Amino acid sequence: LAADAADETDAHLTAAVLGLTRGSAGVPSGFHNAADTDPSLPANRAWGRSILARVEGSTLGVDTIAAARVDDAGVLDGIIESVARAGAAWGQKTGAERAEVLHRAGVALEARRDRLIEVMAAETGKTIAEGDPEISEAIDFAHYYAERAKDLDRVQGAIFVPSKLTVVTPPWNFPVAISAGGVLSALAAGSGVIIKPARLAQRSGAVMVEALWEAGVPRELLALVDLADRTLGTQLIAHPSVDRVILTGGYETAQLFRTFRSDLPMLAETSGKNAIIVTPSADLDLAAADVIKSAFGHAGQKCSAASLVILVGSVARSERFISQLVDAATSLRVGLPADPVTQMGPIIEPAEGKLLHALTTLGAEEKWLVEPRQLDDSGRLWTPGIRTGVAPGSYFHLTEFFGPVLGVMHARNLAEAIRFQNAVDYGLTSGLHSLDADELAEWLDTIEAGNLYVNRGITGAIVQRQPFGGWKRSAVGAGTKAGGPNYLFGLGGWVTDPGKN
Ligand code: ALA
Repeated sequence: LAADAADETDAHLTAAVLGLTRGSAGVPSGFHNAADTDPSLPANRAWGRSILARVEGSTLGVDTIAAARVDDAGVLDGIIESVARAGAAWGQKTGAERAEVLHRAGVALEARRDRLIEVMAAETGKTIAEGDPEISEAIDFAHYYAERAKDLDRVQGAIFVPSKLTVVTPPWNFPVAISAGGVLSALAAGSGVIIKPARLAQRSGAVMVEALWEAGVPRELLALVDLADRTLGTQLIAHPSVDRVILTGGYETAQLFRTFRSDLPMLAETSGKNAIIVTPSADLDLAAADVIKSAFGHAGQKCSAASLVILVGSVARSERFISQLVDAATSLRVGLPADPVTQMGPIIEPAEGKLLHALTTLGAEEKWLVEPRQLDDSGRLWTPGIRTGVAPGSYFHLTEFFGPVLGVMHARNLAEAIRFQNAVDYGLTSGLHSLDADELAEWLDTIEAGNLYVNRGITGAIVQRQPFGGWKRSAVGAGTKAGGPNYLFGLGGWVTDPGKN
C-alpha cells in the first residue's frame, strides 16, 4: 500500500510538471494538441480503473437524450426556425468573440473526459485506449477551430457570410470526436447547429453536447435532436432553412441525402477501402505492428482502417513477416471494454450482411491465415481474421466491411500494388511502408487517397498535424479537410469586400 501511495504521489508530481494531470488544463493561447492520458503512470491507471468500474454497471443515465426526442413535424419545424434565428444573431459576432466560447467548450470537454470515455465504452464497446485519444481530438477541435474562427475576421478583400443553420449527422464509431468536430466547426464559422447523433451512440453525443451547453454555448443555438422516424429525418435534411449538412457516414447515406434535396450544400466524409502497401525495402517489424493496429483498432470499425495489406515482391515470401502478422492477430485479447485486459472490444451490433459474409466466407482463391471465431452468442465478439490470396477485382478487394477482418494481396511490384489500391471506388486513407526514396516519390505521385501515411499506421489523424479528408467516393463536397487551416472557409459564403475595391 505504501509503495502504491508513493508511486501515486510521484506520478502526480511528474504529471503536474508535464501538465498532464487530468483536470489541470487551462485555456491555451494559440493552439497545442491535448495530451492523451499516459497509462504508465499509476495515478492514471487508477483513474482508468474507476472508469471501468462504472462502465460495468452503467445504465448510461443520460436524460438529455430523452428530452431531445422529437416525434412531431411541427415541433421539428419550430426547432429549425428558432436555431436558424439564433444562428443569424451568432453569425453577427466576430470570430474572436466566438473563439472565446469555443475555448471554454474545449475546457469543458477536458473536464468530462472520464464521463465521455465511460459512456462511449458502455454504448459502443470502445476501450479506454481507443476512447481517450478520441476525447483529446474533440478538445483539439474546440481550441483549433477557435483560433481558425479568428482567421475569418482577417481575410483581405472578401467578407465571410456565415450560414444560419448547419445540420450535423455524425457516425457512431467516433461519437464524441466527429460529433464535436462537426458542431464546433459550424459554431466557429458563425452558424447555428442542429445535431442528430447516430442511433447507436446517441448518449455519447448527448454528453458531448451537455459539455458545450455548460461551457456557454446557448441551447437555442445548438439543438440536440433524436428523431422518431425517417420521415422527420427527411424533413430535416430537405428543409429550405438548412444551409449546410455536415455528414460522416456511408457513401449511400450521402447519396440518399441528395435525393431529399438535390441542391443541398453538403460536406461529407464517407466510406473507405484502405490499404497499406509493404515493399521489400520496408522495416518489416514496424510494418507488421502498424498493419495490425490499423486493421484491428476499434475492431476495424474506422472509416480509416486498413482493410487490405498489399505485399510487394519478396515480402509475400517473408515467413517472418507473415508469422508476425499471424501471431499478433492471434494474441489480441478480445473482450468487453469493462475488462481491463481487453485490447479489442466488440463490434457495435451482431455481425450481419456484408460483414458476416466477410467473417465467415472465403473467395475462390482465398484461405485463412487467421480464421475469425465468434466468442459468444451475442454475435458481437469476434476474434480478428486475416485472409490471404485476395484476388484483384474480387469481392473482398473492392468492398468495405467495417469490422475486424484484413485481406492480404500480392503484387509483383510497387506500380501494381498502387493499381490495386487505386482500383477501389474510395480514396480515404492509404499507407506505404518503404525505406526507399524513389518508391516513396512514385507512390506519392500516383496514389489516389486523401490521407497518406508513410511508415506508420493509417488511422488516428491528429488535428492540425494531419488534417483529414477523403477523395473519390470517400468525400462529397471535398476540398477542405477537417482539423486543417481551410475547413471553416468552406462552411459559409463569400462576398467581395466593397471597402477593398
Ligand atoms: N479521423 C479518424 C482517423 O483518422 C477517422 O482514424
